[in-house]
Amino acid sequence: EMDERERAFQDRIDAGEKIEPQDWMPEGYRKTLIRQIGQHAHSEIVGQLPEGNWITRAPTLERKAILLAKVQDEAGHGLYLYCAAETLGVSRDEMTEKLHDGKMKYSSIFNYPTLTWADIGAVGWLVDGAAIMNQVALQRTSYGPYSRAMVRICKEESFHQRQGYSIMMKMASGTPEQKRMAQDALDRLWYPSLMMFGPSDKDSVHSAQSMAWKIKVSTNDELRQKFVDQTVPQAEYLGLTVPDENLKWNEEKGGYDFSEPDWQEFHDVLAGNGPCNADRMAARRTAWEDGAWYRDGLVAHANKRAAQRMA
Ligand code: ACO
Repeated sequence: EMDERERAFQDRIDAGEKIEPQDWMPEGYRKTLIRQIGQHAHSEIVGQLPEGNWITRAPTLERKAILLAKVQDEAGHGLYLYCAAETLGVSRDEMTEKLHDGKMKYSSIFNYPTLTWADIGAVGWLVDGAAIMNQVALQRTSYGPYSRAMVRICKEESFHQRQGYSIMMKMASGTPEQKRMAQDALDRLWYPSLMMFGPSDKDSVHSAQSMAWKIKVSTNDELRQKFVDQTVPQAEYLGLTVPDENLKWNEEKGGYDFSEPDWQEFHDVLAGNGPCNADRMAARRTAWEDGAWYRDGLVAHANKRAAQRMA
């Protein structure tokens, strides 16, 4: 049963109002947002690793400059999102600690390796493409700071998606070996990209409540369908084949029928047993430990300044 404050809160949500940090909100709303925004922030940060892996090996100076800029953008996205989560009363240190202790998640997709340069194309095209599909919808999320962070992030993500597609165009129209690399990247990254949208609606534990609070504005399956409908023609334009024998245009629903990803694999990755989970977490822990001297320095400096002001 809703009490009066909860009823008033739900009325504001239903009227399409944005909720701001100083407003009253149910504890569950706050917790759900901290979980989702925190997980989203961690994904941006961990997501730098598979692409960072190729910065030293980009094929031209121009591609290297573009990739560097893109990976730096992801760091920026992580920072806006940590700030948005901090408005809910959690600190960035706390969220980082939880990530390192395995108590907070990050997107499953970043536990797959980037084996060739074509994978960098496929990551931009498919992974950033899936990310935008989700984030464009989240611009309309009910929590003000989260929705505003999404506006800028979406502008940058569309550049990321375009740069990925540009790599795919180059590879797919290159030598037969390059075209094979492009096809191989699509083969390996297609289903992991579909998994990014989360479990199917019937298995999604949080969707119903998150939709009622307008934290989520579309369901996992709705966004996955939109992504497939947008991406299949792009694959055709590249002359590549989506690795799904059941893929078929369905005139009646105005979208493609397609195979679901292997949900057992999804659960294995979430449980920490994907191909790169251990590497990713080790890289994040090392970066955190290596940065300890710098954080200590900042605190020492702040304390000294505070003592000077007191004197
Ligand atoms: N990777 C890791 N965990 C996932 C994924 C995924 N792709 N999809 C779902 N999960 C987890 C959920 O976090 C939840 O676990 P939890 O209760 O321990 O947090 C569980 O699986 C059940 O899923 P749902 O009930 O469907 O969870 P939710 O309502 O949060 O929906 C979704 C999942 C769609 C990912 C949502 O959280 C979301 O929109 N997040 C913001 C976008 C985002 O995080 N993007 C990151 C990747 S894009 C990028 O960074 C470039």
